[in-house]
Amino acid sequence: MSQARTIILGIETSCDETAAAIVARNGDGTGHVLSNIVRTQLDEHKAFGGVVPEIAARSHVQWLDHIVAQALDAADLGYKDIDGVAATAGPGLIGGVLVGLTTAKAIAKAIHKPLIAVNHLEGHALTARLTNNVPFPFLLLLVSGGHSQFVLVRDVGNYERWGTTIDDALGEAFDKVAKMLNLGFPGGPKVEEWAKKGDAKRFKFPRPLLKEKRLDFSFSGLKTAVRLAAEAAAPLSDKDVADICAGFQSAVVAVLQKRCGQALERFADELPGEPIRLVVAGGVAANQEIGDALHKVAGQYDAELIVPPMNLCTDNGAMIAWAGAERLVRGQVDKSNFAARPRWPLDSDDMGLGDAHG
Ligand code: KG4
Ligand code: ZN
Repeated sequence: MSQARTIILGIETSCDETAAAIVARNGDGTGHVLSNIVRTQLDEHKAFGGVVPEIAARSHVQWLDHIVAQALDAADLGYKDIDGVAATAGPGLIGGVLVGLTTAKAIAKAIHKPLIAVNHLEGHALTARLTNNVPFPFLLLLVSGGHSQFVLVRDVGNYERWGTTIDDALGEAFDKVAKMLNLGFPGGPKVEEWAKKGDAKRFKFPRPLLKEKRLDFSFSGLKTAVRLAAEAAAPLSDKDVADICAGFQSAVVAVLQKRCGQALERFADELPGEPIRLVVAGGVAANQEIGDALHKVAGQYDAELIVPPMNLCTDNGAMIAWAGAERLVRGQVDKSNFAARPRWPLDSDDMGLGDAHG
């Protein structure tokens, strides 16, 4: 496409953030966030210790129009300036996805601009190109509340999933451990805080799949071990809680470090001569001990570690707008009857192009 600058409105509603953003992609492939508005529903879900799909969907309905208007205002742009409308079309909580996708369809139709139905994971995968202009190929480690996976990103639309969790996502494991210990939601930051004061050696928690060659994760056994330890030590003192958190986090760090090392080795084997790049995304990347461990392992394999700014690592509209821009400049747009998808693996052959019925 010859156009020098492409401006995309991106909408994200697949979980508990109602988000919209305006992103520009320049002709040279660099990107720029013009606005990025995120309204978290944390307070609405807090009492339930997790995200309630029905509440999430209703809240997206209530807020999305305002958030889109705010995104345009903050960028000082109007609909006439937009070249395309991108929205998360899956995977995620279907009620929320329907709200965002339907809104995007309506806007695209009204302003006579293309719709880009974006895979949420593709949004995470391509963010480092927006923030750090990272060239292909690179290895993505996505660790969020919903996903824990390694993906080889070869190009836009060309993804190979190398490993995933066989049960809980890592952020989910943090949240469940926090819930067992009555630390509140979301659990990741709370567990991290308590772990700082704890003795990581007191409880010997399992390091699931550590000895296996596969790049998959499993966190449910670890979670059960934490529950049993907490039950055995009850009633828990502050020291017990801190030691359990520290033990849990150190098991997670050991597993991540080992898996990342294996994944980087595979990258070196399969793509000889390519500079090794490891991109990390997802809320769990905010954890400092995990970040330090990833730095260490990247250093061991002479890999470049790229961690986009945290507000773009967690769910947001800018990553969806950017993925939309990357696809639009390649001529990849979607029909207005594109169906929302609760499940949509990133490495599926059908990345949605021209999809009508899901
Ligand atoms: O990417 P994200 O904001 O939302 C999605 O799940 O898509 O990730 C949220 C997850 C939650 O499970 C939260 O507990 C976890 O990231 N998290 C953390 C930390 N901050 C957030 N986990 C560990 N340590 C943290 N500091
Ligand atoms: Zn996400």
